[in-house]
Amino acid sequence: MSSVAHGVKTLGVVGAGQMGLGIAYVAALRAQIPSVLLCDANKTQLDKGVAFFESLLKKDVSKGKIKQEDADAARSRLFAVEGVESFARGQQGTPEMVIEAATENLPVKLKIFGSLATHLPLTTILATNTSSISVSKIASAAVPDGVKPGSPEAWQGPSRALGIHFFNPVPVMPLVELIPALQTSPEVLERAKAFAIACGKEITTSKDVPGFVSNRLLMPFINEAVMTLEKGIATKEDIDKTLRLGMAHKMGPLELADFIGLDTCLSIMETMFRETSDSKYRPAVLLGRMVDAGWTGKKSGRGFYEYK
Ligand code: CAA
Repeated sequence: MSSVAHGVKTLGVVGAGQMGLGIAYVAALRAQIPSVLLCDANKTQLDKGVAFFESLLKKDVSKGKIKQEDADAARSRLFAVEGVESFARGQQGTPEMVIEAATENLPVKLKIFGSLATHLPLTTILATNTSSISVSKIASAAVPDGVKPGSPEAWQGPSRALGIHFFNPVPVMPLVELIPALQTSPEVLERAKAFAIACGKEITTSKDVPGFVSNRLLMPFINEAVMTLEKGIATKEDIDKTLRLGMAHKMGPLELADFIGLDTCLSIMETMFRETSDSKYRPAVLLGRMVDAGWTGKKSGRGFYEYK
């Protein structure tokens, strides 16, 4: 257990997709953070996120996992907001922590971190849920507009940034991987640990290397399964069955790739390959072709399998 308090009364979550929504859910329900501000620039996505949050609560109540009053309390803690600028202006208070769970794209993340740094105090912890991008690079953008390079603010900005990596589905998977950037202060890491534990999670810590521990192990495994299929060694069903029944995995690697998103798997492999030049991270050609075809897995209705 961390002996440091997380000190989060208001949490901002940027991105109302699967991950952001799941983070908002565990923060509101398990950690009981009084105000969870869920933000997405896309209003349709935001409405979808809130509706999914409500459906998760309903399902947990109907299964007897939580009481109706706990669900009502969790719902009352969630606030939908459209832009990160509104974090600073909201009646719910200025966030002590913001977790960015936007698309896995460096320019997008740099822009969000720059904007968060400009609109929020230097004391707000800025976390990224990236699954492979350099956290030190993202942290370097956590400097308010107009700050002089080399000034105390320019050093302090990135020191409150780190990676807090949740796993999908966030309400179900018990792990959070913490990734301190080179710049992260020890106090920020301790507070992030306390926050993850309050969300009901176990924690591990990884150095800021491409893929961290989780995807350094998982993605080459998935990629090898794609190559096994590509070479015609076995059918997709048999590849998945081998791992599910032979090794007691919850999902086979191809099923899991569909679940994660083939575009996400490809982008993680590309990051690891680009940053290390190690051929063991070279993405399978078939993985790239499937993404080219728009067969990105469960979310698009087709990946290695078809989804109705
Ligand atoms: N949100 C919330 N809860 C969900 C959910 C979601 N999206 N999907 C499933 N669940 C819940 C179900 O409601 C159910 O809850 P109960 O036990 O209370 O009934 C539970 O999960 C099990 O679901 P199902 O019975 O429908 O199906 P299942 O037993 O096949 O489990 C699964 C589904 C949880 C996804 C399971 O197959 C599993 O654990 N798969 C492996 C997932 C995994 O490896 N995730 C990590 C991916 S890597 C990653 O996220 C990081 C990265 O950087 C790429």
